[in-house]
Amino acid sequence: MIAHAGMLVVSMTLKLAARTRALRPSPTLAMGAKARKMREAGRSVVSFAAGEPDFGTPPEVCDEAIRALRAGETKYTPSSGTAQLRKAIAEKFIRENGLDATPEDVMATCGAKQALYNAFNVLLDPGEEAIVLAPCWPTYLDQLVVSGAVPVPVRGCDAETLEGAVSPRTRAIVVNSPCNPTGGTLDAESLAEIGRFADRHGLWVVSDEIYERLQYEGEHLSTAKFCEPQRCITISGCSKTYAMTGWRIGFAHGPTEVVRAMGCLQDQVTSNPTTFAQAGAIAALQLPNQKVEEMRETFRRRRDLIVSELQVRLGIAVPSPKGAFYVMLGLAQFLRPEETDVEFADALLEAVGVATVPGSFFLAEDSLRLSYATSEEDIIDGVGRLAEFVQGRRQ
Ligand SMILES: Cc1ncc(COP(=O)(O)O)c(C=O)c1O
Repeated sequence: MIAHAGMLVVSMTLKLAARTRALRPSPTLAMGAKARKMREAGRSVVSFAAGEPDFGTPPEVCDEAIRALRAGETKYTPSSGTAQLRKAIAEKFIRENGLDATPEDVMATCGAKQALYNAFNVLLDPGEEAIVLAPCWPTYLDQLVVSGAVPVPVRGCDAETLEGAVSPRTRAIVVNSPCNPTGGTLDAESLAEIGRFADRHGLWVVSDEIYERLQYEGEHLSTAKFCEPQRCITISGCSKTYAMTGWRIGFAHGPTEVVRAMGCLQDQVTSNPTTFAQAGAIAALQLPNQKVEEMRETFRRRRDLIVSELQVRLGIAVPSPKGAFYVMLGLAQFLRPEETDVEFADALLEAVGVATVPGSFFLAEDSLRLSYATSEEDIIDGVGRLAEFVQGRRQ
C-alpha cells in the first residue's frame, strides 16, 4: 500500500476495516476548510485551493431543474439515468469525443467520482494492479485501495517507463488529460503510445476527461480514439464544464457489458443520481457552445495572468499549463533544509493567508498546486502575498 500523508486517524479500539483505515481525507477539501476557518476568525485569506469553477451554474440549467422539481420529478429514475439523459450523454460522446455511442454504452453517475469508483470495482479484482500516470489526482489511489486493487504510479508515459511498471497482475491504466494537478495535456503521440501499450498487454484503459472542455491549446483528444475502444472507459461530467460541482452528475462511456455491470453496482450503492439534477444536466448538455467557450476564455486569461505574475513576482520560469485550472509551482529553491511542501503550505497560509495544496498529495513532492479558479484580483493579491512570504524568509 502507498504511504499516505495524513491518513484517516481513528481510535484503534474502533477496529474499522483495513481498507477504510487506509483512506485519506481529501487534501483539497481539508485546505479549503482551514482557509474557511481562518476567514471566519476574521483573517483575510486568498484561496488557490479550490478544485471547482467559481462561476454560478448557467441560469438555463437551474431553471430546468426547478421546473423538474415543481413538475414532481422527485421519484427514483433508472439507476443509470433517465432515458432522455442517457440519450443526451450518448450524443455528447459522439459530438464532442468522436466516439461511437448509444444510450446503452453510457450512464449517468453521482459525479465523475462515482463513475471512476464503479469502473475500478467492476474491472479489478483484489490484488490486481492499475498503472496510474503521476503526478495524479489522489482520489484514484484511494479509490483503487478501497476497491482492493493496487495503484502503481508511474512518472512518464514513454514505452520504456510503462513497460517497467507491468506485472502479471496489471489489469488497467488510468489516464487523465487535461491533468489535475499539472494542467498538462497528452498529445496524440503520447496517447498512441499509451494505446499501443494497453493493447499489447490487454489492459483496460480508464480515461478521466473531466477537464476536456478546459483545454487552451490544441483540441482535446479522447484516449478511446487511440486504443481498442472495447477496452476503454471514458469518464466525464457536468462539474467542471458547466460549473455544476454540487449537482453531482458524471458520465461514463464504455462497452455495453461493462456499463451494464457499472449500473448494477450503482443500483446497490446509490441508485440514480438526483432526479431533478438529471433534468438540469440535459439542459447543460444542450447549452450553446458559446456559453462554455466564454467560461473557458475566462480561465485562459486567468492562466496567462497567474503564470506571468508568478514569473515576474518570484523571478522564476513557470511553464504555462495547457488545460484544467491548475498551475504547479516548483519549490526547490524556496524550501528550507529538511522542510516539506506540506510545512511550506501550512506556513504560507498562517503567515500571509494564502491557501494552496501541497504537491506531495498528488505525488509531486516539493511543489504546490495553485488553482486559478478565482478572480483576477485574487490572483494578483495572492501571488503578491506569496512573493512577500518568500522574500521575508530570505532575509
Ligand atoms: C481529475 C478529476 N477527476 C474527477 C473529478 C471529480 O469530478 P466530479 O465532481 O464530477 O465527481 C475531479 C474533481 O476535482 C478531478 O479533479
